Amino acid sequence: MAGSLGVSSLVCLLNNGDQGNTETSQSLLGPFWRLHSPKVDNGGSIVRSETPGAPLFVTARVVDEAGNPLPGAEVDIWHASPVGLYENQDPEQADMNLRGKFTTDADGRFWLRSVMMVGYPIPTDGVVGRLLKLQDRHPYRPAHLHALIFKPGFKVLISQVYDPADPHIDSDVQFGVTRALIGNFVRHDAPHPTEGDVGVPWYSLDYVYRMEAGDAVLPRPPIK
Ligand SMILES: [Fe+2]
Repeated sequence: MAGSLGVSSLVCLLNNGDQGNTETSQSLLGPFWRLHSPKVDNGGSIVRSETPGAPLFVTARVVDEAGNPLPGAEVDIWHASPVGLYENQDPEQADMNLRGKFTTDADGRFWLRSVMMVGYPIPTDGVVGRLLKLQDRHPYRPAHLHALIFKPGFKVLISQVYDPADPHIDSDVQFGVTRALIGNFVRHDAPHPTEGDVGVPWYSLDYVYRMEAGDAVLPRPPIK
């Protein structure tokens, strides 16, 4: 209920970005982060079982507050399938599907292949469902890519990057979307320039994650 009333996002924004005075890459952790995502080399795929959806190529950089690249940062990536379910919610997906752990290179970069995700509704069978109904609100989150980035000397960066083309980008039920978290997801209708097995359309996302100096304290994983 704290999430659906915007309290969780408010607490996040008040505790980051110079106590809410500047934009921040920090966002909500959500209930689906898992420890020990399998390591993947840069450029590798996090699709571990047959998954519908258009190919997505992510290129990203991790920098400090001054824009200097941060090499050797550990980056957990996870997202829902194009059906709108995380692998732990969906018996059709392999264990750890659409999850992976990357390490930034000397320029602070990491890159990967996956499939384009869609938005999904939060559960509405409990008290939050009744709240949303009384407020005449929909239960949807816009499509987003989760990241948790760990580097000693910096606050653990918990982020979500959102697709501005999603119909719910302006009305996220969890109030998570800020301008700094809008990704340049691009749909491409011409063949991929280098990957011959990629049909059209395919998508790309390029994003810069900014870490703030501080203590690197991992959250408690919501999934055991
Ligand atoms: Fe999510």
